[in-house]
Amino acid sequence: MIDENRLFEAESRLVALLPPAEMGRASFSTNCAPCHGDDGSGGIGPNLLTNSFIQTQEDEGLIDFILEGRRGTAMDGFDGILGNDVINNIVALLREWQE
Ligand code: HEC
Repeated sequence: MIDENRLFEAESRLVALLPPAEMGRASFSTNCAPCHGDDGSGGIGPNLLTNSFIQTQEDEGLIDFILEGRRGTAMDGFDGILGNDVINNIVALLREWQE
């Protein structure tokens, strides 16, 4: 029988083999989907599919935007909440949605 810790370890390694956008999907569901919808098509927050703001930002700009949010709106920054890896994966997902 496989002990539960070993199973968890194996699962973590498998997840780390997923492409960044796939890993970003789980983080997006937890942190962004409540306002932007699970599929990114919008809700309280705008539609992020084929979105001109995203399309005109470099990765650096998008990362800064996610960290800082947009002052005076419901879009709060995620500085201190999400780590670099997680944000990079979410950006990979946002990029995939522009294709
Ligand atoms: C509490 C609700 C809420 C959450 C959670 C949230 N957002 Fe937003 N987001 C908004 C709102 C509202 C706006 C539009 C702000 C404005 O009026 O300009 C926005 C704007 C944006 C924009 C700019 C889109 C544009 O067209 O200008 C991006 C990109 C974005 N959010 C990504 C994210 C990501 C990625 C996450 C998760 C890490 C996230 N948001 C979490 C509410 C939210």
